[in-house]
Formats: sequence, C-alpha cells, structure tokens
Amino acid sequence: MRITTVGCGYLGAVYAASMASIGHEVLGLDVDQKKIDDLNQGVAPFHEPGFSAVLEEALGSGRLRFSTDYSDAADYSAHVICVGTPQQIDAAGADLTYVHAAVDSLVPHLADDAVVLGRSTVPVGTAASLRERLREAGKDTPLAWNPEFLREGFAVEDTLRPDRIVYGLPDDPAEAARAREVLDLMYAPMLEADTPLVVGNYATAELVKVSANSFLATKISFINAVAEVCEATGADVSVIAEAIGLDDRIGPKFLRAGIGFGGGCLPKDIRAFMARAGELGVTEALGFLREVDNVNNRRRDHVVNMARQELGGTFTGKRVAVLGASFKPDSDDTRQSPALYIASKISGRGADVVVTDPAANTRVHAERPNLAVAEDAYAAAAGADIVLLLTEWKQFKELDPVRLREVVATPTMIDGRNVLDPAAWREAGWTYRSMGRP
Ligand code: UDX
Repeated sequence: MRITTVGCGYLGAVYAASMASIGHEVLGLDVDQKKIDDLNQGVAPFHEPGFSAVLEEALGSGRLRFSTDYSDAADYSAHVICVGTPQQIDAAGADLTYVHAAVDSLVPHLADDAVVLGRSTVPVGTAASLRERLREAGKDTPLAWNPEFLREGFAVEDTLRPDRIVYGLPDDPAEAARAREVLDLMYAPMLEADTPLVVGNYATAELVKVSANSFLATKISFINAVAEVCEATGADVSVIAEAIGLDDRIGPKFLRAGIGFGGGCLPKDIRAFMARAGELGVTEALGFLREVDNVNNRRRDHVVNMARQELGGTFTGKRVAVLGASFKPDSDDTRQSPALYIASKISGRGADVVVTDPAANTRVHAERPNLAVAEDAYAAAAGADIVLLLTEWKQFKELDPVRLREVVATPTMIDGRNVLDPAAWREAGWTYRSMGRP
C-alpha cells in the first residue's frame, strides 16, 4: 500500500515507521518543519523505546519519507489521520481543529482511488461529519475509522503487534467494501498472525476507543479510592489489589494505586466523553466519570498535603527533591503529568524544588523555568528536606537507600508510586510513606 500519515506526533510518526517496516510505502506529513527535518534524518522528536531503530531501518529501506508538502499526498492512496485531539482550552470537549485541518489539507490532493482513514481519538459523530465534509468539498472518497490503542513506552510494539484491530465502516456498502479492502491490505501481516478483528459502524469504532480509555481510568481511580479508605483504616491497598486481581473477572492490571493517571489520553478522553454525552442528552450515563476525574485529582493534592505535613506544616525555605517528571516511565511526555503538577504546586507554595527525570529534563527546563533540574536522583536529592518519588522509572525503583541517605538533609521519602520496599528504606533510616499502605 502507498500510505500517508497526516500528523507525525507520538501516534503518526510511530505508525509511519512501523507501516514502512512491514513493507508499505509511507509518506509522513506534518506542518512542523523542524519535526519533519528531524524525522528525515532519523532523529526521533520524542523518547519512545524501539522507535529510533524502526525509524532508521524504515528510512534505510527507502520506503519512508517525511514532508510538509501536502501536494506530495497525490501519489498515495490511503491517508491516515493521526493528528492530536487535545482538550479545548476553555472547555471539557475535544478540540477538533487539527482533524478538520488535516481533512481540508488533503482534499485538493485526493486521488480518485484514495481512501481516508481516521486513527485519532475523536468524539462520537466525528467520522460521519468528516465524511460529510469530504462530500461538501466535492469528494466521494470513502472514509473509515480505525482507532489506535497504543501505549506510550510500548508504541512500536502496540502498532506492530496490536491486541485487536477495529474497523468503523461507512453505511454505504460500496464505500464500506473499498475501505475494508484497503484496511485488510494495510494490516495483512497482523491479520495473518490472527490478530482479532472487530468490525462496526463509525459510532461504534469511535466509542470503542473512548470506552476502553474510560474503563482503564475507572480501574485506576477505583483502586485509588480504595487507597483513600486504606489510609483511614490502616489496610494495605497493594495487598487488596493483589487479592482482588486474582479474580480473573477483575484481573491484576491497572490496579496500581499511587498519584493517579496523567498523559495525553486518559484525562482528556474521559472529559471529552462526558462533554459529548452532555451534547447527546445522556449526561447521567457518564456521571461516574466525573468522580473518576475527582478521585484522580485528589491523589495529587494528597501527596502535596502529605509532604507539607512531613515538613512540619510549611514549604517555605524547604528543599524538595522530585524524582520523575514524565506522566509514566519510558516516556518524556509531561502532558497532564501528576509528577509535574505536584512539583509545580509545591514550588508555588515556596519550596525550592529540584526535579530529575531520565528523559524529560530538557522539556521540564524549557516548560517550567521555576523548577530546578538535576542530572540524576543523587544530584536532585543533595541537601533535600524531603524526597518524592513520582514516576516509577527503573532508575528510581533501584535506588540505594543507604547511598541516597548520605546526600539528603533529612531522610524522608514519599513513594507516590508504591514501588520501593518499605522495610529496606526504613531499615536504612528513612521515614518512608507511600500511597494507601500503612
Ligand atoms: C493510554 C491507554 O493505555 C492506551 O491504550 C491508549 O491508546 C492511550 O492511552 P498511555 O497514555 O500511554 O495509554 O498510558 P497508560 O499506560 O494507560 O497509563 C496512563 C496513566 O495511568 C499513567 O500516568 C500511569 O502512571 C497511570 N497508571 C496506570 C496508574 O496510576 N496505575 C495503573 O495501575 C496503571
């Protein structure tokens, strides 16, 4: 297949390189010239394990290139929309500006046999409105929705070996057949490997994605709500998670209590889902997601309060070391990061905050000039009155409590991700506190 990806962020760039690696001819399009130049030179614009290797290999094969010139799209037959759908600045709903711009930019260059495929996460109803947008522009190009489920940190793996593929096909049988033909060719190696394929209409495919992310967010907030009760009773949330996770109807994954979920997907997806339900007149159906969001936000503030308590009631003049800035390990993504929220809040209350992150230091330095940035955990913790572990990078999980104790002013550790061994840290002389564990 000859494929373009419109948008070369985490989703589009990984998709472009991965599709080229399985034999397709791919053109990655984006409006950001610097990003396109970097990608053409094999430089990954973000930290994503395995991406550089797949990018380099795909560029070397001659099957992948990147461009800002949308007229290059005329020679390609499948156009995959991979642009972002962030939360609107002043509302809970998704901002579809980039999706509309992607379709409008493609319109003048769509070949007669072209098909448009959407992968971005969009509010239900968007695919139908985009199909209408194409018709109004005089194009009868078939459009299908094909949501992605990739996790940052595993983006290449999730693209090449997805646990399911979903097609949202148009109602018109001829258009649906053409879109399906293209999708089947694109995913031929995955389908041959027996990847489950689920087929529905536009609305179903759009809702599969937001339902999946809402369920994951609910699972995390559920266990964090239980952690709140544990904190009031002396129970241990990690033992509860282990015990309930052994019930295979519940399962052990996404039951890690801590400072909650962040990132470019879960927080904005649940809010956009609620906003869309409101527009559709079914607000009450998703009322529980408001509580999911509330529990999540409370966990962040809980850590701030816990740190202030340990510091004797005030942050003024205190030195606080923050280990982790990205929203999860193996990523440099700081969007909606609980770690960065906590660091900024404590800094705003008068503490001298030093942050360190194995991948996001440059980003923190550029975006949060009020936060000092240190090379590693030992440098960040030098002279600290308290240390907060907020992103569970391997480097932090493996920290030596004896060695770290030597550099701090006061050995107090708040483990926001429940990843350290309480006994080992207490034995090394630390006051150790974690989330929902006695
Ligand atoms: C998510 C979905 O998992 C993915 O399928 C979708 O395509 C995009 O959104 P991602 O944003 O990469 O992927 O992150 P995810 O691994 O889901 O983690 C989200 C947040 O939840 C992180 O901040 C993580 O630290 C937190 N989390 C996750 C918990 O706090 N506890 C858990 O048990 C699991």
